[in-house]
Amino acid sequence: MNVKASLAAFAILISLLTTASAQNTGHLTVDATAAVHEVSPTLYGLMTEEINYSYDGGLYAEMVRNRTFTGRGPRFEHWLLLTHGSSQATTSGDTSGPSAALNHSIQLTITSASPTAEAGIANDGYWGMAVRANTIYTGSFYARPQGVGAAHLRLVADDSNATLAEATVPVTDGIWQRYSFILKTGDVRTSSANHLELTFAHDGVVNLQLVSLMQPTYKNRANGNRADIMELLAGMHPHFLRLPGGNYLEGDTIKERFEWKDTIGPLVDRPTHRSPWNYISTDGLGLLEYLEWCEDLKIEPVLAVYAGYSLRGEHVTGKDLEPFVQDALDEIEFVTGGPDTKWGAERVKDGHPAPFPLHYIEIGNEDNADRSGSYDSRFAQMAAAIRAKYPQYKLIATTPVKSTVPDVVDDHYYMTPEQFYAIVHKYDSADRNGPKIFVGEWATRTGTPTPDFGAALGDAAWMTGIERNSDLIVMASYAPLFTNVNTGGMQWSTDLIGYDALHSYGSPSYYAQALFAAHIGDHTVQATAQDVNPRFFYSATVSTSQKILHLKLVNASDQSQSLTLSLTGISGDAAKVYTLHAATRWATNSITRPDAIHPVTSTVPVTAKSWKHDVPGNTIEVVEIPLK
Ligand code: AHR
Repeated sequence: MNVKASLAAFAILISLLTTASAQNTGHLTVDATAAVHEVSPTLYGLMTEEINYSYDGGLYAEMVRNRTFTGRGPRFEHWLLLTHGSSQATTSGDTSGPSAALNHSIQLTITSASPTAEAGIANDGYWGMAVRANTIYTGSFYARPQGVGAAHLRLVADDSNATLAEATVPVTDGIWQRYSFILKTGDVRTSSANHLELTFAHDGVVNLQLVSLMQPTYKNRANGNRADIMELLAGMHPHFLRLPGGNYLEGDTIKERFEWKDTIGPLVDRPTHRSPWNYISTDGLGLLEYLEWCEDLKIEPVLAVYAGYSLRGEHVTGKDLEPFVQDALDEIEFVTGGPDTKWGAERVKDGHPAPFPLHYIEIGNEDNADRSGSYDSRFAQMAAAIRAKYPQYKLIATTPVKSTVPDVVDDHYYMTPEQFYAIVHKYDSADRNGPKIFVGEWATRTGTPTPDFGAALGDAAWMTGIERNSDLIVMASYAPLFTNVNTGGMQWSTDLIGYDALHSYGSPSYYAQALFAAHIGDHTVQATAQDVNPRFFYSATVSTSQKILHLKLVNASDQSQSLTLSLTGISGDAAKVYTLHAATRWATNSITRPDAIHPVTSTVPVTAKSWKHDVPGNTIEVVEIPLK
């Protein structure tokens, strides 16, 4: 390189370096002794619906896919006819079943089978079946056999054909009966490339229904949830679960709404239903399981009740709404009623004697989409009936209404990072005399299947606004919460937590939320900033009992932000810093790199008067400063 060229290269380098450090030193003044208002004790929570295989193929611990043989036989999706050796068999759909809800089945006709050449059916699971060493899998099925002899159940490795666990279940000819079994693995290799075989060694005919195999669950809850995903949820430090929210509550049509009465009781009495996200929900995770999910995380339900409007515009008002009003009252009774009430007794019968705590009920979902304008009257009619029987509950409207004053209005935001930066101060000047706000769905939507670091920056910026206004915003929940990352597993492109059959991971947005929720005080304090870049955001709350100032600093610029901080009320002890950082907004976590971005903890000395602190570009920091 000649001298001229080297000088030019040097000049470019200097210009890049000066650009990278071109931001002014900003000033942040925080008076930890000057309380502004209380932080809502229920601020951060969860919103859930069956979307992206959230429950079936996700949180719900079932491993068998299409366990109720939905669809048209002879070839039910995810089931294969198995003919080992020279055995001969056929399958067909049959109109008999073990219950009124499951009044159909698969019929297996075996014309040639023997102990060395069994015939039966096999299931490939939700993109495989996760099998681990020394683990107990709990199974059951309904059968009406004739001549086929005992049922043989095996977990089998797809690649080697090795049997990983097996059980034999004697069956009784001629009647529908439920059978249960256990499959226990030994020292096998952890893998999801496995399937379940259900076979017989004799000629005959057998009808089968509700073939289930459950993996171990969180807190060993029967018919419960996958432990790894529940642990991720616990890590978010939530206070509530909005259940079930979103389009899933409404259904495409009234017939396809979330009809809670079809989701309780024995699994064999749950007919399953099509969800608006275009697949069949087993309803194995039904109303009681939602409530038990809350119980396991020690959080409260925010009960969403169907309000007479479905997504394709079908709706009912006045007299026609009355049965749905009654359904909502019954649902509240199922959640909270004593054993002396009809639906409370039903809950007791289903195995949960204690009523669940409840404070908030949401009426409908996104009813601003109802172009007929019927929500005002539907809300008023439902609110009047609920308030007459249950005056103690706070009622949430899904869009502003005029005829009745709701306690809370649910606002939803799906935005780009830049759109969120622009509305971080939206609620600073909002009316404090009207209903409270529930931000029941929000997400920065960049990155797929799970949000990238740019989205985490948008989310963190937005959360500083939520915290600053947490006298008005009583609750906030991100959506959607989950996605199965396999091809075909996702209907919504940006989802907080990703998983396959074996693994799960939190996105950068997950970690941003987990950090914000884990480190929050009980009141906000006075904080002002000067000369910071336009993409710098902050929030300051104080925890009275812990004597900690929780400072959230979000630098969504890609350049470092130097700060001089004036802090009143601090003790001068070292502060703990939790940092979430990425080199670019595109950086992200994935099923193969689940931890590429994660919080890093450090300690820094802090001085009260003019503490110099640099927040690197693309960085979210939570600083915990001890108070006097
Ligand atoms: O979160 C995904 C969908 O977004 C919800 O089902 C719906 O309420 C909203 O439009």
